[in-house]
Amino acid sequence: MADAQGGELLDEARGLARHALDDVVRCADLDSLAALRARLVGKQGSMKALLKRISSVPTAARPAAGAEINRLAGDVEAALESRRAELDASAAEGPPDVTFDPTMPGTRRSEGSLHVVTLVLDEIRAIFTRLGFDEVSGPEIEDPWHNFDALNIPPEHPARTPSDNFYVEGGRLLRSQTSTMQIRAMESRKPPLRIFAPGRVYRPDAVDARHLYAFHQVEGLMVGEDVTFADLKACLTTFAQSMYGDDVVTRFRPSYFPFTEVSAELDLQCPGCHGRATSARCPVCGGEGWMEILGCGMVHPNVFRHVGYDPEKYTGLAFGMGVERVAMRRWKLDDVRLLIENDVRFLEQFR
Ligand code: DAH
Repeated sequence: MADAQGGELLDEARGLARHALDDVVRCADLDSLAALRARLVGKQGSMKALLKRISSVPTAARPAAGAEINRLAGDVEAALESRRAELDASAAEGPPDVTFDPTMPGTRRSEGSLHVVTLVLDEIRAIFTRLGFDEVSGPEIEDPWHNFDALNIPPEHPARTPSDNFYVEGGRLLRSQTSTMQIRAMESRKPPLRIFAPGRVYRPDAVDARHLYAFHQVEGLMVGEDVTFADLKACLTTFAQSMYGDDVVTRFRPSYFPFTEVSAELDLQCPGCHGRATSARCPVCGGEGWMEILGCGMVHPNVFRHVGYDPEKYTGLAFGMGVERVAMRRWKLDDVRLLIENDVRFLEQFR
């Protein structure tokens, strides 16, 4: 059908060109691209067929209509050409080489390894199991009773400050210490008992070479009718010697914890400078000469009262160690962040 401007023919040409461009981009190999080229712009191709129908356009409009159809055909040609260049380039890379050469050495798969914290936890586990302690575990989201009150830390105590703890809904919190497990163990067992409880604890501390906001502790508790401070020292000295060798130098230093009386901390002499806290800063201990690895003491009578144990009848020893610290001293690491950065070059050294 003729119309004044040849608009119908041009609409058809534009639609055809649009579909043609889609087909070209989707074309996946050189052979089908050649076939597509013949179908679109070859002598018998659809764009040529359109030109042949130019006689249906009124004479005056023919030159403009012809020029438009030629322009559309030119676009299609250009698209065909650039797709051909792309397919050529990927064909030049050639098919993958599948020849099998049995004399080639195999490709080694990189093996995983246990994390430093896991390794040292396993050693701690083995030591306390040998000393007759049972392993127990408990929740990381705690109520204030187990994290504070039962441990003789009253409501007004600064350790309960919101800015020093990760409180969640309902007044509960991410436990700030594994000492919670002393309470849980005594609530569910009768004395005598010996337990240790490894686990994660949380404190809103800024991360630096010595602090993380989430780290690991191992809690220990032994309760009986005649547990003494000598047992505490023996137990922890045995631990230190098993972990670090018989020549490790330890120091029990008086301290304070609300849930023990008496209280102490255990320091290990720095293996980097052997306790010579000289002005030249030792990279391992930061110049202090000693490294604190745990807090300990004799269970406070109030703690026994809170769990229904008779403080006149029972005594107990307790300790809580920082697992990352134990690991740092074990492998002379000077930055605790190495333990959470997951740099494979560091991790793969521990197999
Ligand atoms: N819970 C203490 C802390 O996180 C460590 C600790 C000290 C644990 C003395 C104990 C203990 O069992 O007796 O700093």
